[in-house]
Amino acid sequence: MSADKILVIGSEGQIGTVLSHALRESYGIPNVVTSDISSPRNSVIGHFEKLNILDGQKLFEIVKKHKITQIYHLAALLSAKGEQNPRQTWDVNMNGLFNVLEVARQEKLDKIYFPSSIAVFGGQTPKKATPQFTVLQPETMYGITKEVGEHLAQYYYKKFNVDVRSIRYPGLISYQSLPGGGTTDYAVDIFHKAVAGEPYECFLDSDTHLPMMYMPDAIRATLELMNAPADKLSMHYGYNVRSMSFSPEELAAEIKKHIPDFQISYNPDFRQKIAESWVESMNDSYARNDWGWKEEFDLAAMTKDMIHNLLKIKNKGTSEYDEKMFL
Ligand code: NAD
Ligand code: SER
Repeated sequence: MSADKILVIGSEGQIGTVLSHALRESYGIPNVVTSDISSPRNSVIGHFEKLNILDGQKLFEIVKKHKITQIYHLAALLSAKGEQNPRQTWDVNMNGLFNVLEVARQEKLDKIYFPSSIAVFGGQTPKKATPQFTVLQPETMYGITKEVGEHLAQYYYKKFNVDVRSIRYPGLISYQSLPGGGTTDYAVDIFHKAVAGEPYECFLDSDTHLPMMYMPDAIRATLELMNAPADKLSMHYGYNVRSMSFSPEELAAEIKKHIPDFQISYNPDFRQKIAESWVESMNDSYARNDWGWKEEFDLAAMTKDMIHNLLKIKNKGTSEYDEKMFL
């Protein structure tokens, strides 16, 4: 029986849905408490607590009630939604993180996970093989909150010994869950259209290259970092992690290998400017050296697996993942 008791905040989002399942498999259903401002879409497995992360008092109550030892703090507004409401993005992303770090400090929690993003880059950041330590001039409110969040995490580690761990996720691609309002969402939406036999109108230009990662690799990276021995970690900033980098045109060409009739057109909107402020690929030597990070999925393997799983969902009305989780 695990002595760890995990709280996932933002469990109903793109990552939370999949990560909560992986955590339940690792730690056991009674040892994982999920929470979100939104109600669960599916029947609840284990404990669920309705929580607005801005309610610090309620967070303390939940942590004490369930004797929580670790928090995975995923609740945030992402890049595209963030530009539509910068004030609320600052509030949720910064004050939410602050509440989590405070409960960790006061209740002496073992570990905190706080995801950062490629959105910390911008301005004069080198675009290719971007180093771990480089110019950070984020141009979105979302990116600003992630950059400041990384500094706050490092501050709480150094000043209060709170063990916060973080990854700068690239755009994440999943068949199990839909994205929640980011600039990389096109790379999930495109698959849903392709598998439905419909054309896709992309909101980014054809040759916009961005770092991306398949969800199984992202979940594995998260758990590997959280399980790494503390003395192996050289920092508590967000680690660069690399997996694949492609443009909408290259992704469409890969999809066409499986669905030859698939059609794509381009109609860039405000998200194009956001994408252009980010980088194309990252140097992740710190993650590889410190905790042994290595990706498993490249563009071809991810595309094949996405189409396979989405076709299963289309044909059966469910997937292996849903069968395991909810049936
Ligand atoms: P998402 O938008 O799909 O999910 C976020 C969840 O947080 C939602 O379920 C939402 O209801 C919840 N939430 C929002 N406001 C809340 C509040 N005030 N209190 C409690 N819950 C609240 O996002 P995601 O893609 O699952 O991202 C999770 C984390 O990973 C975020 O911090 C995000 O910045 C980071 N991240 C995601 C990606 C990606 O491509 N998905 C890339 C980089 C970083
Ligand atoms: N996928 C995220 C976004 O597009 C990057 O953090 O906002």
